Parts: sequence; structure tokens; C-alpha cells
Amino acid sequence: MYPTDRPRRLRTTPAMRRLVAETEVRPRNLVLPVFVAEGLDAPKPISSMPGVVQHTRETLRKAAAEAAAAGLGGIMLFGVPSNHDATGSGAVDPDGILNVGLREVREEVGDALPVMADTCLDEFTDHGHCGVLAPAGRDAQRSGAGASEMVVDNDATLEVYAEMAVAQADAGAHVVAPSGMMDGQVGRIRSALDSAGHTDVAILAYSAKYASAFYGPFREAVDSQLRGDRRTYQQDPANAREALRETTLDLAEGADMVMVKPAMAYLDVLRSVAEVSDVPVAAYQVSGEYAMITAAAERGWIDRDRTILETVTGIRRAGADVVLTYWATELATRLDR
Ligand code: PBG
Repeated sequence: MYPTDRPRRLRTTPAMRRLVAETEVRPRNLVLPVFVAEGLDAPKPISSMPGVVQHTRETLRKAAAEAAAAGLGGIMLFGVPSNHDATGSGAVDPDGILNVGLREVREEVGDALPVMADTCLDEFTDHGHCGVLAPAGRDAQRSGAGASEMVVDNDATLEVYAEMAVAQADAGAHVVAPSGMMDGQVGRIRSALDSAGHTDVAILAYSAKYASAFYGPFREAVDSQLRGDRRTYQQDPANAREALRETTLDLAEGADMVMVKPAMAYLDVLRSVAEVSDVPVAAYQVSGEYAMITAAAERGWIDRDRTILETVTGIRRAGADVVLTYWATELATRLDR
């Protein structure tokens, strides 16, 4: 008799397939990213992300309550201020939209749902960069920047991040998530939180964040002011080894969780980060991934619901304990608790 090896035996019935499934997606594995905008009367649709909105303070509360009821692992807040300036001062202002949103969401969900804050300046600066700018110094000029060019000043940015993270913790964030890819950001934020008495606030470090075209729709979502790109601080998509170096540094600086972003085009990176990390690993299915699947499904070219579950399962299989996805609440309602 040939063949003698028949892997199909374990695929014969739904119950058999359920018995041997290796990877599970549960609501607790999912984190919902949300946008809260200042001065809105009604939620504002984001055209490149059908189904996702900029929330008002009121609808944000509702989204947080739904996320908690769905049993999600967390909610991640991004702020969309109405005014921007050179240093992103709205980010450190306790009355800035992100901090107000954090306070209200925390009030709404208490400790039932971990409340996470994006700790980055790009939504708040008038130039749209993730840090503060300074004239290019001699080192920068040597490496190709023009004499009059402005560059993102790493160490000056760390001081603003430190203040921002403390403001977010004061507002009630359980987790701060530095996403700006500045060197030393995790260590600087840890010491600022500790000095302010926030020793229990965790840091989810965007350790391997790539300069990606998949962030396109997000830039609309946060009314991004950016001209140019982020290639001097976000990673080159060509590099995998560098992600391990970034992760190792973040772990040494005290990261409580690490993240790879985007997800689908970086599953190899996710796998290797998961292999070296001794803390939980997250991956972010970003706006462009959402938009791509939504657009193809709208055309009837792929099955939307199956594709959502398949991609999130793939991200989990590659090594993510936690997946940030704009479908988190919707998907959770279709999953076993
Ligand atoms: C930066 C930040 C970005 C995203 C999350 N945090 C955008 C960027 O780096 O330009 C992108 C998320 C997405 O595309 O869904 N604060």
C-alpha cells in the first residue's frame, strides 16, 4: 500500500481539525488601536480605512467599553490634536487630547482593560516628525545632510518623551508605548516613570519599527503634517539583524514587552524577535494592512472575515503573543473566549 504516510487523516472533519490546531486566537490576544480627535462633534470617518474613525471623547468611551466587554487584551490610544507646534507641546499637556482621552478611558474601564498610550510626538508636531528638530550638526553634515537642514535631535527628544510618558501615566495609562525609534528611549522613559512614582506602569517598546509604506492610511487617520520620511530613525525594510539589535537594547533598557511593526511583511523578523525575547512579543497589523484587505474584500476579490482571521492567526503563529489590529473588537466577538 502506498502512500503509508497520510497527514490528511487529521484533516478529515472539523472536530478533528479543531483537535490538532496549534495556534489559537483569543480576544485577550488582541489590542484595539483607536484615534481620539480634539474638538469633534461627531466621529469622523477615515476614508482610507473604511470602518475606522477619529473618535470624539464620547464615542471613544463607548469604544473602550465595547473593547472591555469583548474581552480584548487592551486598547491603544492615539491623539489627534487641533493644534500643532514645533515641540509637540500638546503631548505633555495634561489637557492635551491624548491625555484627556486616557483619563476618560481609564475612568470608563478601570482595571478591566489595560489602557495603552502611544508615546510619540508625530501627531503633535507641526513638522510631523516623531521628535524635535535641530539644525544638522557636523556629524549629520558629514553623513550627507545639507548645512541648513534640520534633523531629528535624538537626545532632546528623549527629554520630551520622558515628560510625555509621565503625563500619560498620570492620566491613567497602564502601559506606555514609545514608537518613535529614538535611541535610548526605553531607558529614559523607565527612569522618568520610576522617579515620578510610576514604577508599575509598563513599557511596550516598538523595538523593530520599519520605515513602511503600510503606514499610509494612518497618516490620514492622525492628520499627519509630515513631509519627507522617517528613514533616519525607523528601520530599513531590508534589515532583519538590526531588529535583533534594537530588541536586545530595548530589553536591556527595561522593556516589559517588545513589538514588531508592521506585521504581515515582517513575519520573519517577528519570528526571530520571538526567539530571543524573554518578555511578551506584540505585532502591529497596521493601517495599510487593514486598507489592503478591506479594499480587496469590497471588490469581492477575497473573503473578508476569513482573511482577517487567517492573517491574525499567521501573525500569532509567527510568534506574537499580542496582536494590535483595527479589527480587534469585531474579531473578538467571533472567537472563543
Ligand atoms: C508613530 C506611529 C505610526 C503608526 C503608529 N505609531 C506612524 C508612523 O510611524 O508614521 C502607524 C500605525 C498604522 O499605520 O496603523 N507614532
